[in-house]
Parts: sequence; structure tokens; C-alpha cells
Amino acid sequence: MKVLIAYGSRWGSTEEIAGRLAGFLGEEGVEADLLDVKRNRNWPSLEGYDGVIVGSGVKISKWMREPQAFLRRKANELKGRRVAIFVSCMSVLADPESARRDLLERVAEEAGVEAVLMEAFGPLADLGPRSKMGFIDRKIAGAAMAGLSKDKGLEFDAGGRNDLRDWGRIREFTRRFAESLRG
Ligand SMILES: Cc1cc2nc3c(=O)[nH]c(=O)nc-3n(C[C@H](O)[C@H](O)[C@H](O)COP(=O)(O)O)c2cc1C
Repeated sequence: MKVLIAYGSRWGSTEEIAGRLAGFLGEEGVEADLLDVKRNRNWPSLEGYDGVIVGSGVKISKWMREPQAFLRRKANELKGRRVAIFVSCMSVLADPESARRDLLERVAEEAGVEAVLMEAFGPLADLGPRSKMGFIDRKIAGAAMAGLSKDKGLEFDAGGRNDLRDWGRIREFTRRFAESLRG
């Protein structure tokens, strides 16, 4: 069994999830290739892949352009293969139902893609000195975290690395995807 994990990531969160998905799939006996669809525009044929996982980070309530274009452009090839999609986003912490509807179901529907699994994972809000976010993006992320803290009682470090991704859920997502490949 072989899977392609195609992802777009602005500040490294989705990229790290993609890498961990590949590792978890390996533990399930499934081989995985990683494709950064923004850095590498030479998107391969999906021939030889039993499944494809497509993931994106989110900004201003939207996927990155490249992973969304990948879904659209590959929609025909994705038919007949197991497909899963995921995002890393902040809005899932505030309202998981609308995150699912707006960032997953709608995106899949618009691309004409049927996914066996769709999951919105939380963000990496790195507000610390080694953050990959620029000054302004870090300010925006910090303000959004402060809003979540006020509304939802979320605890966070205003000057540190806040990893709000649930790695147990990410592990479970991989297990279920591997199961769907076998089934
Ligand atoms: C400037 C900025 C804007 C963002 N806008 C949103 C947004 O509109 N909705 C959302 O759910 N998350 C938003 N986020 C949170 C990111 O989606 C989150 O940090 C995610 O982990 C980024 O993934 P990436 O590093 O793979 O791109 C924003 C983050 C920043 C820094």
C-alpha cells in the first residue's frame, strides 16, 4: 500500500503534521510520499498510489491556493482512490462544526472530491522567538489566541510556542485511513 501526502503550509504546522502522518502510516505498514505542493509545482501522476491525503493551513478562513488547486486539478485521478483531507486551523478551537463545514465539506464539494475522512486539527500558534511567523502574522495569531482565551478559557503562552494540535487525534486519523485502505 502506498499513499501520497500532498500539503501546503505557511508556517510549518501542516508540514509537521504531514511528516508525522507519514511516520504513523509507516507504523501501519503503509508507505508514504510527501509532496509540498507549493514548493514543488511538478505534481506527479497519482498512478501507483492507493490513497491520497491532502492538507492545508488556513488564513483568513481559506485554504492555501496550491493544495486547493491540487484537489481540483486531481479530482478525476482521486476518484477510485481513498482520499482524506485535513486542515490545521484556529477556528476548530472556537467552533468545530463550522470549521468542518466551511474548511472541509465545502472545499471537498467545490473540488468534486469524495473523502473517506475529513478532520480539522488545531493550530501551532508559535508566538516565541523561533516562530516562522513574521512580526505582523505573530501579532494577528496572538490577538486571535487572546480572543480564544477570553471566550473559551483557553490557556496560552503569549511569548511561547503553543502547540494546540491533538497528536492522539492525528494518530487516530492515520489508523482509520490505513484501515480504509485495507477495507
Ligand atoms: C495571519 C494569520 C491568519 C490566520 N487566519 C486564520 C483563519 O482565518 N482561520 C483559522 O482557523 N486559522 C487561522 N490562522 C491560524 C492558522 O491556520 C494556524 O496557525 C495553522 O496552524 C497554520 O498552519 P500552517 O503553518 O501549516 O500554514 C491564522 C494564522 C495567522 C498567523
